[in-house]
Amino acid sequence: MSDVILLIDDDQSLRRVTEYNLAAKGFQVVTAASGREGLLQFKAHAPDLVVTDVKLGDMNGLDILSMVKKEAPDTPVIVMTAFGSIEMAVQAMHKGAFNFITKPFDRDTLILSCKKALELKGLHTKTKLLVNEINHLTGTEGIVSASTAMKELLDTASRAANSEATVLISGESGTGKEVLARLIHQNSPRSNGPMVAVNCAAIPRGLIESELFGHVKGSFTGAIKDRKGHFSTASGGTLFLDEIGELSTDVQVKLLRAIQEKEVQPVGSDKSKRVDIRIIAATNLDLKKKIAAGEFREDLFYRLSVIPLFIPPLRERKEDIPSLVAHFLKKFDAPADVHFSKQALEVLKAYPWPGNIREIQNIVERCIILRKKNKIEPGDLHLLVDKPAVSILSPEIPNEGIALEDIEKAYILKALEKANQNRSEAARLLKIPRHVLLYRLEKYGMQD
Ligand SMILES: Nc1ncnc2c1ncn2[C@@H]1O[C@H](COP(=O)(O)OP(=O)(O)OP(=O)(O)O)[C@@H](O)[C@H]1O
Ligand SMILES: [Mg+2]
Repeated sequence: MSDVILLIDDDQSLRRVTEYNLAAKGFQVVTAASGREGLLQFKAHAPDLVVTDVKLGDMNGLDILSMVKKEAPDTPVIVMTAFGSIEMAVQAMHKGAFNFITKPFDRDTLILSCKKALELKGLHTKTKLLVNEINHLTGTEGIVSASTAMKELLDTASRAANSEATVLISGESGTGKEVLARLIHQNSPRSNGPMVAVNCAAIPRGLIESELFGHVKGSFTGAIKDRKGHFSTASGGTLFLDEIGELSTDVQVKLLRAIQEKEVQPVGSDKSKRVDIRIIAATNLDLKKKIAAGEFREDLFYRLSVIPLFIPPLRERKEDIPSLVAHFLKKFDAPADVHFSKQALEVLKAYPWPGNIREIQNIVERCIILRKKNKIEPGDLHLLVDKPAVSILSPEIPNEGIALEDIEKAYILKALEKANQNRSEAARLLKIPRHVLLYRLEKYGMQD
């Protein structure tokens, strides 16, 4: 299909010649002899490109430009100005014109400009399609929110998205913190910029500063060339700092400074670099408790939680369960007649969901793959709590309280014991990456 060009000019002879020249190159041309007619044609044909004169009988071409930019920001506009009216041309470019050409112009100048503009428009369209595709792949499409709690949360999140404010998302593992962060980014004015996700817990301690802020060549052994940090990579977009509670206090200080000053200082450099980013942080830890324990800086906490968003665990919003099941059946392409029996749904509703949405997603996927019949019954669910080993799901807390750290230490010791002190195997048993285990061992002084 050929591209449609809307040509607006009140000079009849020029309009006819231009129309002829463009049509001869295979473009489909719609013409208008006045501003008002131009706007009507614009609405009727949704052209791929607008070419407009500045001085129209009834309107100014720059108003047409503004209107087009408002209605269809990706549609390029070429403005034709009279020879010598440079000021007009400058104004047109300021208002977002793709280009201007001064009258009188030759045929080839116009055609070349039109081709370039349409090429750009084609790229815009392709980028949009790709972004949609990526959103689909990263699963931010269709966040299930049947419960009032989730609806309210998404409502707040969409209002937060419009601002530049720092957002702190908290919630248990698997509740959808990353999905929510992506949703905020995609609905923010920065959606055309990158969203860079950094898992603070997954970066070895000694490297975190260089990963976040970059480094210059030779600043430490192994720094063989300059490296951009995530702050710089995310410039123009959103930086998602996941598992923020795992940052050591010295890195917290530097992070706070970077956020406040909107500047980073690469490791080994004496110069600061400006960065233009919006920060979304997430944690599954109780930061208030970490503050009380002296492990998280209070000033950083307040800096980050300008807009705090708490995602409730799935066991506190069971109304979402049937919708989530339906959502994941569709996501995993289950045939239309695969469904969960009423009793199976009841069992799912009664289950405490320690792994939250991630867990229900896994269970639905497993049920689809392993099903013997299309109706899935309670016996087909194989939920974790059926197994005795997870008594930790209903732990007792003594009246005087218990330190989470002690529980963690005890489980790390148990895992090492079971793994014959093999750390990789112990990490596998604890379902954490090996370096996270090493980090914990160091933190708790348990290396030996
Ligand atoms: N409301 C929802 N609707 C549909 N899918 C969801 C929803 N919330 C989460 N998910 C899915 O659940 C999985 C876990 O989500 P996500 O990775 O965002 O959780 P998280 O809170 O970041 O977990 P963790 O703390 O373990 O990193 C993802 O596959 C995500 O697509
Ligand atoms: Mg996450």
